[in-house]
Amino acid sequence: MKAPTIQGEKIYLRPLTAADAPRMTAWLNNPELTQYLTVEPPFTENQEREWVVSMEQSRTDLVFGVVAKDTNEHVGNIGLHHIDTGSRTAPIGIFIGAADMRGKGYGAEAVRLVVDYAHDKLKLDTIHSDIFAFNERSVALFSNAGFVRSEVRKDAHVKEGKSIDAVIYTYKCS
Ligand SMILES: CC(C)(COP(=O)(O)OP(=O)(O)OC[C@H]1O[C@@H](n2cnc3c(N)ncnc32)[C@H](O)[C@@H]1OP(=O)(O)O)[C@@H](O)C(=O)NCCC(=O)NCCS
Repeated sequence: MKAPTIQGEKIYLRPLTAADAPRMTAWLNNPELTQYLTVEPPFTENQEREWVVSMEQSRTDLVFGVVAKDTNEHVGNIGLHHIDTGSRTAPIGIFIGAADMRGKGYGAEAVRLVVDYAHDKLKLDTIHSDIFAFNERSVALFSNAGFVRSEVRKDAHVKEGKSIDAVIYTYKCS
């Protein structure tokens, strides 16, 4: 889906472009970040460019770059994936790529903007976040945004041979 630009206070959300691929590749090849994500590095710039195009062409995925307003720096990505217009449900995914950009309120604002867009424009009813149970910051982020812990999935993911429990946080838009 083609993403719109959405203005917030500290950040704005904008469509991703091929020019973002080198930055995204560096982020997603960093284990410090990917320890929290289901993705499996390594990634190449070409894969990231192709991914941007595939997201734009997808009928069920909507991704945004998160941009800090004070520096105009692209600091992370957020998106809704596998949007199901039948059940009006979608999973949400987010990362702030560089560690020194975390803890500044960017993630919280990005989640709020996407949840509002999902409700107001996409007419979705329920948003889920699938979080690794040890990821306390993400649990705090989604709890503060009004998501409610709805399920614990034991051994939901396997990463580097180790199984990881997941907690599912759910937001009811209406
Ligand atoms: C999780 C993530 C998206 C949160 O975004 P962020 O911009 O760092 O978070 P914010 O600054 O908006 O803070 C959100 C909440 O996290 C909590 N938090 C912030 N820093 C924290 C820390 N170091 N430890 C624990 N909780 C923390 C706070 O409760 C904060 O809420 P507050 O508004 O009450 O202070 C970001 O840290 C990140 O990308 N982490 C790595 C990838 C990841 O975990 N993605 C999510 C996968 S489900």
